[in-house]
Amino acid sequence: RILILDFGSQYTQLIARRIREIGVYCEIHAYDMPTEAIKAFNPKGIILSGSPESVTDTVTNFRAPDCVFTLGVPVLGICYGMQTMAVQLGGKVESSNLREFGYAQIRARGHSQLLKDIADHVTDEGHGMLDVWMSHGDKVTALPPNFTLIAASENSPIAGMADESRQFYGVQFHPEVTHTKQGLYILQRFVHTICHCEALWTSQNIIEDSIQAIRQQVGDEEVLLALSGGVDSSVVAMLLHRAIGQQLTCVFVDNGLLRLNEGAQVMQMFAQHLGIKVIKVDAEQRFLTALQGVSDPEQKRKIIGNLFIQVFEEEAKRLDAEGHQRGTGFRWLAQGTIYPDVIESAGSKTGKAHVIKSHHNVGGLPEKMHLKLVEPLRELFKDEVRKLGLELGLPMEMVYRHPFPGPGLGVRILGEVKKEYADILRLADAIFIEELRKQGWYDKTSQAFAVFLPVRSVGVMGDARKYEYVISLRAVETIDFMTARWAHLPYELLETLSNRIINEVAGISRVCYDVSSKPPATIEWE
Ligand code: XMP
Repeated sequence: RILILDFGSQYTQLIARRIREIGVYCEIHAYDMPTEAIKAFNPKGIILSGSPESVTDTVTNFRAPDCVFTLGVPVLGICYGMQTMAVQLGGKVESSNLREFGYAQIRARGHSQLLKDIADHVTDEGHGMLDVWMSHGDKVTALPPNFTLIAASENSPIAGMADESRQFYGVQFHPEVTHTKQGLYILQRFVHTICHCEALWTSQNIIEDSIQAIRQQVGDEEVLLALSGGVDSSVVAMLLHRAIGQQLTCVFVDNGLLRLNEGAQVMQMFAQHLGIKVIKVDAEQRFLTALQGVSDPEQKRKIIGNLFIQVFEEEAKRLDAEGHQRGTGFRWLAQGTIYPDVIESAGSKTGKAHVIKSHHNVGGLPEKMHLKLVEPLRELFKDEVRKLGLELGLPMEMVYRHPFPGPGLGVRILGEVKKEYADILRLADAIFIEELRKQGWYDKTSQAFAVFLPVRSVGVMGDARKYEYVISLRAVETIDFMTARWAHLPYELLETLSNRIINEVAGISRVCYDVSSKPPATIEWE
């Protein structure tokens, strides 16, 4: 396994994902990880990440622990990682006012194990050139003793360095981003050829290991899971079912704010098709009653979130009491926590991580019921969770479904939530998604949904005047959901959507398309 020491770069998670893609397990830890912990981790190689900081800054002064260079394992420094390596081993780094940001061409030099015989083009003189992505201000201006130059660009005379005898490598560019065409290959070189790590991190192996680990952890005790039908909780359900079968009980809360037929689909898939024990709680009426007269979005979110916990807790206690009569009862609560959530909470302690959407825990329940937590996805990235889902037999449409917010249609009905509105919205939303899938646009968008506007607008249908509600359609393209661009859907598709929704959904007389990007607009309307 590979250890990645994080100096706070926005690309650190990407490095980890690439290494995992290559089939090797890795973990991200803060750059100041204690020596003992590094030794206990026993890495076969260490990667030092980039950073928004400057190596020349005497205040922050982030450095790699000395043991990184004395453990006898290969080290790869990327951007800031290379610069701190240079400084710590006796080279020199200088600040420059000129930032190099974007594409660059570098010339690979010498015969380093890392870069030899890799090139995107060969010049007339026979030099191999690489297209890479750069993002830095400072640069290495003097190599440390025993290092040789392995790459150079016009702006960065020292764009790569190596000490082959100790297997220390540094690159100024970012091999982890796809703009660096040979980046994955370069990382493969480091991980496979230089660190001698085998490609053992595959979905099949992850599943087998997880199943063993779950069995060891929970033994013959009973586990409770809040199943939402989203990817993470679904994959947890599949894994636990494989590992412990009937010791798993899932609770699925229908809050009346789900998409068309969603409750029935979840039950059909998990309970009937897969034979997983799922208890469905029909709580539509309770949610609608609690939301009556409330139109403030944040208040609606709070009410929905709290009531969910309350309903889940009641059901858990009821099932637990039944279990106790049989002499069992729950000892464990399963959660779909994934690796970015773990990095985030670790990072928020050290203040080095970035803001990633926080995980929705079933708050308070573990302590109240004295439950222990089982979190089989804690080490996995979202793309790994998806692959696992497919391998475990979940259908493609489900594994790659757009995200759906916890408060569901509650934040897509503007203002007060009513059953009448939710029913209309469900139909319109289903038509939208059906057409997107049919015309090949579903996978080209990151999130798409309909929004219900409780204002009336005039129209004519046949000879009759209509005075009915408005639906707005929203479709966005995004990578991280922090920023997003509205999807440029074809006019023909919008035309079909508008015709179908107005004709097929009673209560709608007008359809709009939302052309706001994030920022300044958010993805959801509330
Ligand atoms: P915004 O609207 O903030 O949405 O641009 C970004 C992403 O977060 C989702 N979202 C939520 N998810 N509970 C959730 O679980 C919420 O209250 C919530 N609000 C927004 C939204 O669907 C999008 O994917």
